[in-house]
Amino acid sequence: MDATHLGNDLTVVLHTEAELLARLAEMAREIEADYPEEPPLLVGVLKGAVMVMADLARELRFHAQMDWMAVSSYGAGTKSSGVVKILKDLDADIAGRDVLIVEDIIDSGLTLSWLKENLESRGAKSVRICTMLRKPEALKVQVDVAYVGFDIPVQFVVGYGLDYAENYRNLRDVAVLAPHVYGGEE
Ligand code: XMP
Ligand code: MG
Repeated sequence: MDATHLGNDLTVVLHTEAELLARLAEMAREIEADYPEEPPLLVGVLKGAVMVMADLARELRFHAQMDWMAVSSYGAGTKSSGVVKILKDLDADIAGRDVLIVEDIIDSGLTLSWLKENLESRGAKSVRICTMLRKPEALKVQVDVAYVGFDIPVQFVVGYGLDYAENYRNLRDVAVLAPHVYGGEE
């Protein structure tokens, strides 16, 4: 599905599918150069990272093993507290392995800083983060991110795996959701 199928649900397309894929190819070259000996285990964070993982993994010119976690912040309705509940854990034992977390977006950074520490505590050899999008002005904690696709403004975006109420994940592009969709001011 692309933006033309969504009527007036979106205000602006921030990054087209072609831009996302071109940027991912550049990131893949960096990642390959940074892991010359042993490919890292790619750990995707469900559900948002599904599209990034699919495209990044296929772009990489080495064996790309994938594993998945699902996490949620504690406290429904409240702001991200940084305390995270694991809904689905890894299948793999990561002790002694290089791990590359693959994410769709970093907002406050609370989820990822928790996740990075959690994976390090399991004895991973290294834990790095790769994210397609980042909102630098929304960061609440300092998170060391090795690979960033695009920095974007503090706006609610959907598409390329990102959802609003579970919709829009299958939009090919990344776009800003029109406020009328979620009852906000136009
Ligand atoms: P942190 O802990 O960095 O959490 O605040 C990041 C998670 O918040 C969600 N998120 C978004 N989802 N559009 C979305 O569809 C957005 O603009 C957005 N900003 C943050 C997302 O689940 C991400 O993993
Ligand atoms: Mg996510």
